[in-house]
Amino acid sequence: MQSIKNYIEENKSRFLNELFDLLRFPSVSADPVYKNDVLATADFVAQKLKDAGAESVEVCPTMGYPIVYGEKIIDPALPTVLVYGHYDVQPADPLELWHTPPFEPTVRDGKIFARGACDDKGQFYMHVKAFEAMMNTNNLPCNIKFMIEGEEEVGSDNLGKFVAGNKERLAADVVLISDTSMISMETPSLETGLRGLSYMEVEITGPNRDLHSGVYGGAVANPATILCQMIASLHDENNHVTIPGFYDGVVELTQPEKEELNAAPFDLEEYKKDLEIDEVWGEKGYSTLERTGTRPTLEVNGIWGGYTGAGAKTVLPAKAFAKISMRLVPGQDWERISDLFKTHFENIAPGSVKVKVTKHHGGAPYVTPTNSPAYQAAYKAIEESFGKAPVPTRGGGSIPIVALFEEELNIKTVLMGFGLDSDNLHSPNEKYDIFNYYKGIETIPLFYKHFSELQK
Ligand code: BES
Ligand code: MN
Ligand code: MN
Repeated sequence: MQSIKNYIEENKSRFLNELFDLLRFPSVSADPVYKNDVLATADFVAQKLKDAGAESVEVCPTMGYPIVYGEKIIDPALPTVLVYGHYDVQPADPLELWHTPPFEPTVRDGKIFARGACDDKGQFYMHVKAFEAMMNTNNLPCNIKFMIEGEEEVGSDNLGKFVAGNKERLAADVVLISDTSMISMETPSLETGLRGLSYMEVEITGPNRDLHSGVYGGAVANPATILCQMIASLHDENNHVTIPGFYDGVVELTQPEKEELNAAPFDLEEYKKDLEIDEVWGEKGYSTLERTGTRPTLEVNGIWGGYTGAGAKTVLPAKAFAKISMRLVPGQDWERISDLFKTHFENIAPGSVKVKVTKHHGGAPYVTPTNSPAYQAAYKAIEESFGKAPVPTRGGGSIPIVALFEEELNIKTVLMGFGLDSDNLHSPNEKYDIFNYYKGIETIPLFYKHFSELQK
């Protein structure tokens, strides 16, 4: 282990520069404008896997963006770790809120600012560098497979097919992912759950064209007003979601589970201060940690319609739109929830408008077992490198493909993330602490060491 440490120390600045090169690619999967950049990123990742010592490296085409695969099989009799990550990133807008350009990584105060710095380029690349360090010091104790995709941020539409069609190639004992958050660098933690997701889009249509709001206003339903009323009715006075059947089957935590969850260090005053809000909000009867980690929610992600340009325009818009998503927890089936939403939203529309509901992607929630050798290995690795045992937490985000790994490949996942919730994922000024980047590279080989020992 000392030799790995030395290797990392000696190659530190190169490791950082390579990450910067990766961050310079604007690999925004949602926007077709970046198509060639996303494709170039896949090639770059493949080359870096090869350089690090991976074999059978392939940029596997899909109907969408390719999946980069590579492996190092040292002995088929030994256990195998499948590393998953994503090289695509969220759109960078609103651009004007970035202090430095999103695709020109810049270091300030020990932090790397760039889109994808934490989600997920900085995090998956730690695995490539940890692998390189293990390879070059003769310390890789088991087999390793890499699967880095380019469509995570748009729902991983083509990964399911790839996984189903490559069961043998992807066979492994555990999936290891760094794409989640820790509580803080002083309080390392391991996420033991991810929420599911159901993503919808709605369109409300009123009259057949935009109208003069003085001539027609007050006599014709305004789709923007109706949409707001409909959306407002989706929560009741206790902030419960009102869609009939929404909570059916939701697994409630037991009292000891609740206590464990709420024992995690969390400072509500700090939380409010960080976000500059005076009060938190949420479902009555649940703490903030319960609300984000264990309860299903419904959020408006975007809402538009009518005139939004400079100055004023007195118009009654013909249409109004919204993107609405729901986070789901164990016991909820995302396709059923999408259906329930669609039916309910159509039902509550008044006769004065027409409503169209479109389903986007979704995915199932996931809870990791904490008694597996792989979880224990992650626990020990973090304990060793941080000098402190990690706190188990439930994350609020989603990585829909994780449930699929279990369904298709029958492999459990360990979520060993090194980001922070305050790293501005999906927001302007996304960042990743250089300290976390190196800490991750140091911790990952410890996972392999403990995992291999526990498997014996
Ligand atoms: N890495 C995130 C998920 C995440 C972030 C989990 C922080 C836990 C803590 C992932 O890239 C992501 O953003 N997922 C999307 C879902 C996807 C289908 C677009 C999400 O959670 O919104
Ligand atoms: Mn991610
Ligand atoms: Mn993301």
